[in-house]
Amino acid sequence: MQTLTITRPDDWHLHLRDGAAMKDALAHTSGVFARAIVMPNLKPPIVRTEQARAYRERIAAVVPAGHRFEPLMTLYLTDITSADDIHRAHDSGLVHGIKLYPAGATTNSESGVTELGRCAAALDAMQEVDLPLLVHGESADPLVDVFDRERVFIDTVLIPLRRRYPALRIVFEHITTSEAVQYVEQAEPSIAATITAHHLRYNRNALFVAENGRNGIRPHAYCLPVIKRETHRQALVRAATSGNPRFFLGTDSAPHPVSEKESACGCAGCFTAPVALPMYAECFERVGALERLEAFASFHGADFYRLPRNRDTVTLRREPWQVPAQLPFGADRVVPLGAAETFAWRVAD
Ligand code: NCD
Ligand code: ZN
Repeated sequence: MQTLTITRPDDWHLHLRDGAAMKDALAHTSGVFARAIVMPNLKPPIVRTEQARAYRERIAAVVPAGHRFEPLMTLYLTDITSADDIHRAHDSGLVHGIKLYPAGATTNSESGVTELGRCAAALDAMQEVDLPLLVHGESADPLVDVFDRERVFIDTVLIPLRRRYPALRIVFEHITTSEAVQYVEQAEPSIAATITAHHLRYNRNALFVAENGRNGIRPHAYCLPVIKRETHRQALVRAATSGNPRFFLGTDSAPHPVSEKESACGCAGCFTAPVALPMYAECFERVGALERLEAFASFHGADFYRLPRNRDTVTLRREPWQVPAQLPFGADRVVPLGAAETFAWRVAD
């Protein structure tokens, strides 16, 4: 097979940032994806519908000529989000989910939730109006081993939450473990999960790859939840390629300036937008499941979010290519994930 044409996909988890950098980040997504769930973890975070509306307009203003792209906005849940905030978000029609960041769990999560019990009014309202909760599923307890934080989150937060709000629709974002796969598979259909391209491609050895005989640490492969061991990667591949509609594409593409990644305290987030669809395609092809890519990338997410599937298509061409070493990012530069690697598929213009 030399070309693969699929219904145009959507990205159900994306960081676009703001200002001049946003314009550069966006173009890599809007050339491929029709829509994206846009994360609200700006500084300050997007906590109210009016802020989401303004952010949406800033995004719409920089969509490149010739691209058609619809940003699907989210609000950032805090300890003080009210039922009224939720009703306003729902009534606006432009907010498609409310994002739970446990305070301290990841980049720009300082304003996140300290104790989910404080969010009862907001969660009741979300369940009532059927507005999905999008969860960064990691325990924020610094005593929990960083590789166990997703598993511990399931037991300490997710299971009690779902018992209390059985009808609340939940997206378990960027899952990284076999435990998360199993949890979603056996749970009620009101919960689904996104899976990133990088968690399908790499295991945690990618954080420590040697070059020219020298061992090293790879800040550009560092994201949260951190990539896990090989058995978990294999469980994610099985889930993504299974055809189960509860798993769908969400890149978690999260660009940061080079200087903030290549630092004594390098921040979390991988910029995958320029390479995401080829990365997913390669993963599916390796396990002989290329015919299931379209449903994972273009159908399951839209169905879960109760949005129409896209009507136009995108074509991938089998042609080896190398991702550029760096790309413009406002006044800075950003290093895309997979920069040194050759990919088998590329998106045709
Ligand atoms: C994200 C970011 O940089 O905003 N970082 C990441 O490692 N994924 C935040 C997030 O989604 O956790
Ligand atoms: Zn994210």
